[in-house]
Amino acid sequence: MQAFQDLPRPFFILAPMDDVTDTVFRRIVAGCARPDLFFTEFVNVDGLQSVGRERLIKRIAFTDVEQPLVAQIWGKRPENYFKTAQELVAMGFAGIDINMGCPDKTVVRNGCCSALMNNRDLAVEIIQATQAGAAGKIPVSVKTRLGFSEVDPTWHELLLRQNLSMLSVHGRTRKQMSAVPADWEQIGKVRELRDRLSPETLIVGNGDVSSRVQGVELAQQYQLDGIMIGRGIFHDPFVFATPSPWADYTKQQRIDLYTKHVQLFAQTWQHNERRVVTLNKFCKVYINGFDGAKELRDQLMHADNADHLLQMLAAA
Ligand SMILES: Cc1cc2nc3c(=O)[nH]c(=O)nc-3n(C[C@H](O)[C@H](O)[C@H](O)COP(=O)(O)O)c2cc1C
Repeated sequence: MQAFQDLPRPFFILAPMDDVTDTVFRRIVAGCARPDLFFTEFVNVDGLQSVGRERLIKRIAFTDVEQPLVAQIWGKRPENYFKTAQELVAMGFAGIDINMGCPDKTVVRNGCCSALMNNRDLAVEIIQATQAGAAGKIPVSVKTRLGFSEVDPTWHELLLRQNLSMLSVHGRTRKQMSAVPADWEQIGKVRELRDRLSPETLIVGNGDVSSRVQGVELAQQYQLDGIMIGRGIFHDPFVFATPSPWADYTKQQRIDLYTKHVQLFAQTWQHNERRVVTLNKFCKVYINGFDGAKELRDQLMHADNADHLLQMLAAA
């Protein structure tokens, strides 16, 4: 698929979420209600091109059911973006997305992700290096925010002059972190800018969408090509379905879905690459909405390993 032009309108994306949207959870979501596009968690190109490679490469492992899958990358050095892009093409990813939005303090202190809004020459170099590595074989996109301290259309203008396949805009500034509601009016303004500067670039809106119906409404209202949903999946693993069957899921069905997740987790991360505590955030997703859910969660969250967790789930 070239440049995502074949996707339906609006198309839906499961947002990249660190320690959440790994291959295991993407397979669970694919089995519930698929988005049109998946993203990996962000993976650091400087780490990938260093001795830390072996550990990091597992973060971008995937199976065919997660396709089309976009690899999201971040880092500092353009030459590492170039090499990584070449490798991602060879690995069969459907696209490459550059993270220019993460607001994390350490990341920003290192001059990466949202800090690139304040180092635009490097931002352009990074995009060009990634595009050169991808060599037109797969699309290159960027995910960003509304600005660093303030809403900043000059940033989107710069990005829209880079011949990107897609630009995903989380409707908050870096300074706002996640503290205020996403500003969809401003996302709409980026789309207007796109119409003038780069009609070929698809615009994806992101922030606070909790259902497919709401996503379709926002896409229509602001004339967006796609909608990206992140935290909405925590409240409904079927968030990409209309209607979602989740509210009617019984206690046993919820336990079965969590069991499937833990089984996949155990098969995938056999050498403790991910700690069992990382499952606790999923425990809240599935083990909820029935009598006794809180007590069961309290028990499950104390499991020391996946086998123990599976025994407790079988007994519940
Ligand atoms: C736990 C968590 C991890 C995240 N990790 C990433 C990431 O790796 N890359 C990225 O671009 N955004 C990341 N984000 C931001 C989301 O992709 C998304 O932009 C943000 O949550 C707003 O969308 P939402 O309101 O639909 O969740 C993360 C968000 C959360 C909550």
